[in-house]
This record gives sequence, C-alpha cells and structure tokens, in this order.
Amino acid sequence: MVRTAVLVSGGGSNLQAILASQLFGEIQNCNLVSVISSNPGAYALDRARAAGIEVSVVDVSTFPTKRTFNTALMQKLGDLDIELVVLAGFMQVLQRPICKEYENRIMNVHPSLIPAFCGPGQYGLHVHQQVLDYGVKVSGATVHFVTEEVDGGPIILQKAVDVLPDDTAKTLQRRIMEQAEWEILPKAIDLFCRGKLTVEGRRVRIDEGA
Ligand code: GRF
Repeated sequence: MVRTAVLVSGGGSNLQAILASQLFGEIQNCNLVSVISSNPGAYALDRARAAGIEVSVVDVSTFPTKRTFNTALMQKLGDLDIELVVLAGFMQVLQRPICKEYENRIMNVHPSLIPAFCGPGQYGLHVHQQVLDYGVKVSGATVHFVTEEVDGGPIILQKAVDVLPDDTAKTLQRRIMEQAEWEILPKAIDLFCRGKLTVEGRRVRIDEGA
C-alpha cells in the first residue's frame, strides 16, 4: 500500500472525491495516511476528520519565510514516511528541495487544460475568468506531476469540459470540478498506486493493462 498524504488549504471538494472513490474501491493500493493543511481553518480538515483520517496543520502564517514553511512540511512528510503527495487545492508553492525529494511522487490538480491558463498567479476563479475573457470554447482540468515550475510538470491526465455561453467564472469552476477534477484526480492516484505510471522526460506513459 502506497503511503499517501493529501495536502489542502481550503474547501476540500477534491479531497472529498478522493475519499468517496476510496470508499467505492475505485482507488486501489493506497493508504491515505494523513491530510495536511497549510490553513488551520480549512473545511477540508473537517471532511478528513469525518472520514477518520489523521490530520495535521502546518500553518503557513506562523513561518517567517516560505523556505522555513517548506522545510517544516518536508519534515512532516518524512516523519509520516509518505511515498505519494497529492496536492488537492493546496495554495502554496513547493520549493526545489521538496520537489527533488519527491520527484514524480507529487501530483497536483489544476482547473484548466495545461499549458493554457496556468502558471504563477493562476488559481481559483482567476483561471476561469481568464478562460471566459479569452473566449475559448473548451476548458477542463489537468493532473500533473509537480516540479519547481508552477504547473509545469509532466501531465498525467486531462479532461475537457465545454464552456457554455452563459457561464460565469463560478458556474464554469463548478462544472469543471464535477465533470473533470473529481474524476481525474482519484483516477491518477489509483494509477500511481497500482504502479501504472512511468515518466519518460515530459511524457507520462500509462500502462492500461489490468
Ligand atoms: C480546485 O479547483 C483545484 O483545481 C485547485 O484548487 C481548487 C480546490 O478546490 N487547485 P477544493 O479545495 O478541492 O474544493
């Protein structure tokens, strides 16, 4: 069983999707050891507690620098002997040491079709507003491995979602969560934990065999 930590900062709907998928047996070989939040007030912590998962808080506001925060987080992951790190609405950038230590073992879900509408400052409703302002007809979600470059790591899974004429950033955000994020993030975790992912440069090969 792959010892897994889910890192959160907010509402935790992606965490909820992971918990539900585990309950339905759609994620195999995954031991969800801990949910770690950078924000002590995150509702995601309540969701984790309700599911009986151990929670920890590494409160970013109590650290003098991003570097000391990253060091504390890395220490926590090491103490828990974590093998897979899942960023599910985690609002902090991971720095080089942590990305290197967990190379191709950290995954993130981003609410657009990377490489469009991604990178520094592209999070939450900003992403969807930019999609609407640009006028694209299709957006979606991407699960990718995490490197130092924000949203720049090898892509594991993507799913497209139509942009509708009357969409607001909020309606689009919700539809992309429901139709894409909540499906592809649990699926990527399952593939990883069953040893089905191989990274070759920028490409992630998926072994579709049973
Ligand atoms: C999601 O849109 C995810 O793609 C992004 O942050 C949001 C988190 O939502 N990285 P939640 O906390 O999982 O509800």
